[in-house]
Amino acid sequence: MDFSNRTPIVAGNWKMNMTRAEAKKLIEEIRPLVKDAACEVALCVPFTDLETAGAAMEGSNLKLGAQNCHWAASGAFTGEISAAMLAELGVSYVVIGHSERRQYFGETDQTVNARMKAALSCGLRVILCVGETLAQRESGQTPLVICNQVKAALDGITAAQMKEIVIAYEPVWAIGTGKTATAQQAGEVCALIRGMVQGLYNEAVADALRIQYGGSMNAKNAAELLAQYDIDGGLIGGASLKAPDFAAIVAAAKQ
Ligand code: PGA
Repeated sequence: MDFSNRTPIVAGNWKMNMTRAEAKKLIEEIRPLVKDAACEVALCVPFTDLETAGAAMEGSNLKLGAQNCHWAASGAFTGEISAAMLAELGVSYVVIGHSERRQYFGETDQTVNARMKAALSCGLRVILCVGETLAQRESGQTPLVICNQVKAALDGITAAQMKEIVIAYEPVWAIGTGKTATAQQAGEVCALIRGMVQGLYNEAVADALRIQYGGSMNAKNAAELLAQYDIDGGLIGGASLKAPDFAAIVAAAKQ
């Protein structure tokens, strides 16, 4: 397998944190710390922070990201945000299918797929999240759950569109819990995902696909996780809210 064309990507997932003033301050702290990053660096911020964050990132190597988008172009969907609205604000990446959305907001594999198509049609890149719960892992269902999620999410997505997609493997039991998957556990599932993508598309698509690990990744455990053959970056929650911690993870991500 040829790694040379896979640039790692480290993305912060701020979740529902940071007012606009706090966002500006944090980005001003992060900017100089990651300016020489050997990987792509994105910050997926709350909708209300997008404009402020975009302005604070101007002229830097930081990419602007959002955390969800609706599947319809417009219409009577109170409280939702369309992909075109994000694109207009200079958003590059949108997280879709995060387990918190699946768990608390009724997100299904079908809505994940629809949201992805809407995002791609507006020129956004997608960070597609998949992951098993603790009960599913303990009952040996991890491969089946991951395969089902990946297959359903990618339904109708072309090989050309796969270039715009990053897959984040985030075991639900490791998110915000301080419990990290071991590098071996994480590497195994990421390898499974790459193998699946090879089966669904072809070897070139699978080789080029960037797969992140997410779930309590931090400054201490990042290097070991990122050293795994099939892990090409991280989706970082808690540790992305502290500039030095986030910068340390970015520094650990090299091609
Ligand atoms: P965490 O969150 O790093 O706080 O575990 C990761 C995520 O949910 O993307």
